[in-house]
Amino acid sequence: MAEVIWGLATSHVPSIGAAMDNKKTEDAYWKPLFDGYAPARAWMTDHTPDVAIIVYNDHANAIDLAMTPTFAIGTADKYTVADEGWGPRQVPVVKGAPELSRHLLGSLIDDGFDMTVCQELEVDHGLTVPLSVYCPDPGEEWPCAVVPLLVNVIQYPQPTAARCLALGEALGRAIRSFPEDIKVAVFGTGGMSHQLAGARAGLINETFDRMFLKAIETDPESLAALSREDYVREAGSEGIEMIMWLIMRGALGSDISRVHETYHVPASNTAAALALFENLSTKTSA
Ligand code: DHB
Ligand code: FE
Repeated sequence: MAEVIWGLATSHVPSIGAAMDNKKTEDAYWKPLFDGYAPARAWMTDHTPDVAIIVYNDHANAIDLAMTPTFAIGTADKYTVADEGWGPRQVPVVKGAPELSRHLLGSLIDDGFDMTVCQELEVDHGLTVPLSVYCPDPGEEWPCAVVPLLVNVIQYPQPTAARCLALGEALGRAIRSFPEDIKVAVFGTGGMSHQLAGARAGLINETFDRMFLKAIETDPESLAALSREDYVREAGSEGIEMIMWLIMRGALGSDISRVHETYHVPASNTAAALALFENLSTKTSA
């Protein structure tokens, strides 16, 4: 049976990827952020999954705003890297896990989550930057296959945080019912507080971010009880990306421990964080 071995929450700021691509991680601006990642990266290298399910949002790169699925899942055998205006990032093509994708799709739909299917999909910084946070030097290929799980966090009405937590719980059940003995990691991406445009551009709310970082481990239900307006007001119009962490959290279940956490301001316009959780219920075989 498949099992979830760990969950990673991480910001996906494009310039974090650009800093790695352009060898600027030792620069004074970026070094503190990347130093903060180091213990998590070392641990993840010792606990490699076969497949990463990456919960992320497309930023109108692959999915036209004319058609915005609330929740979608990729079922392709590979995902090419999107050109976001500067040419595609020079990172490996993302290998899919189509059998697992199709299993998750069926299971989630049977469980009441009407997922959109993406048989073809390009992936933008929302997915490739978290992969680089996990694996900074992939060489010719990423160390694991990927199932992209997309969430609309950019167009009103975004799904509720409660629905995201429930989707994560259903995702956990779906993973555990996959008959192959594979190890799965779940990534929840985006956040923390940030607003890229409008009167409040540049907003950072460290108090809210620190509360969220603690509660994502100990009391995710309290975060699921917040409305989308609460997220936008407290964390900014793009800070609502944090609801995607709740999908990762729901998939992990109740028996977890925090391996590492780091919080750094600023990364571009964003409060950047990483939080890594081990699933203790699968620890013996991880
Ligand atoms: C930034 C942050 C994001 O989450 C994003 O998708 C794009 C840009 C930023 O802070 O620059
Ligand atoms: Fe974003």
